[in-house]
Amino acid sequence: MNENQSHESEFEIHVSERVTRLPPYLFGHINNVLYTKRRAGDDVIDLGMGNPSDPPQAPVIEKLIEAARDPNNHGYSNSLGIKNLRRESAAKYFRNYGVRLDPESEVIACLGSKEGFSHMCLALMGPGDTAIVPAPYFPVHVHTVVLAAGGVISLEVADNDTFLSNIAYTCQHLFPKPKLLIINYPHNPSSATVDPHFFVEIVRLAKRYGFMVIHDFAYADIAFDGYLPPSFLSAPGASDVGVEFTTMSKGYNMAGWRVGFCAGNPHMVKALGTIKGYYDYGMFQPIQIAAIVAMRHTEAAVEEQSTIYQRRRDVLCGGLSRIGWKVTPPRAGMFVWVPVPEPWKSRMNTMDFATMLLQQGDVAVSPGSGFGPAGEGYLRLALVENENRLRQAVRQIDRCLSSQTAGNTNLPSQQTAP
Ligand SMILES: Cc1ncc(COP(=O)(O)O)c(C=O)c1O
Repeated sequence: MNENQSHESEFEIHVSERVTRLPPYLFGHINNVLYTKRRAGDDVIDLGMGNPSDPPQAPVIEKLIEAARDPNNHGYSNSLGIKNLRRESAAKYFRNYGVRLDPESEVIACLGSKEGFSHMCLALMGPGDTAIVPAPYFPVHVHTVVLAAGGVISLEVADNDTFLSNIAYTCQHLFPKPKLLIINYPHNPSSATVDPHFFVEIVRLAKRYGFMVIHDFAYADIAFDGYLPPSFLSAPGASDVGVEFTTMSKGYNMAGWRVGFCAGNPHMVKALGTIKGYYDYGMFQPIQIAAIVAMRHTEAAVEEQSTIYQRRRDVLCGGLSRIGWKVTPPRAGMFVWVPVPEPWKSRMNTMDFATMLLQQGDVAVSPGSGFGPAGEGYLRLALVENENRLRQAVRQIDRCLSSQTAGNTNLPSQQTAP
């Protein structure tokens, strides 16, 4: 080994505290098992991620191809989104919720709502600032605050009135007061929903205690049995205190396209625009053009997609109840959030239970503990496989659990309980 080589091997990379203080990613274990099984050729039914498996509408794809053929569409685009895309998002707000937005100052396009959400946290939060997040939490809601050097208080969302009174209590007792409230309805993972009055209360609390609000409205387009998830922005005064993020990932089956929007308070929208101006050069223009077509011409398909999820919900919830699980069917969103049934719940933690279903039942689900301590004891099942595969998943789960109760020694011991 020469002198240069020995110096190279000693060189250490010290990443920033911003990276090292991030909480561990708990789905890594399940993802690794899933990957190994798939590589071994196992046909795993994957209800883990909320990654839509149906394609976008044909005219949207055709528009993308047509726009990609235009040589004028290959340069850097506007990092805030082209005007017509922002205008189309504002038009959708008016059509669906009666909310009037100025597309110039109150709407911004993001590279998926996750990017916009993360950069909004960076624009609003800093050392010493605290955000209230829902518990259980979509991990992004915590990680983005932590990356922005802020702290997090998580409050349980299971009961809407309790959640509201806990927000008030936290504001009365925490010093300095929370700077930001993050909410998300229909909620991932718990599928909790609200009615419009809830947002009126949120605005009242925000004004009273002086916190800003971000509403993550990712599942706006997926609702069942006639329920219409309300927009936060339709509450009077909402734009005084906050913004709302929407996405084309879920209802339009365009998750890989990375199209989302931030709308509402113009100062917050501007702050996000400032950060984005430093970080990115905007979305590939043909994607923006095709996204306009999707919003303008494929609303009927978005409704139909909801019906597909509703049928899947019925199949999965019906099947799980038949095998004895206590499942409450969600009225919106892409997930079924269900307690681990007894005797398993008393015998093992959620991660072990989910690992067992995957290893021995070939069904991947998300363990609730991946969504924070409030998720322990629950599983999240995404409605991303078709009805037949969902029926098959229930059969495989049933078979897996029956073989375990029949005295299989692979049953994890009580020592693994948290
Ligand atoms: C609650 C919630 N917000 C945001 C996102 C991210 O959406 P996007 O694809 O627009 O970044 C997801 C995706 O799973 C989600 O569940």
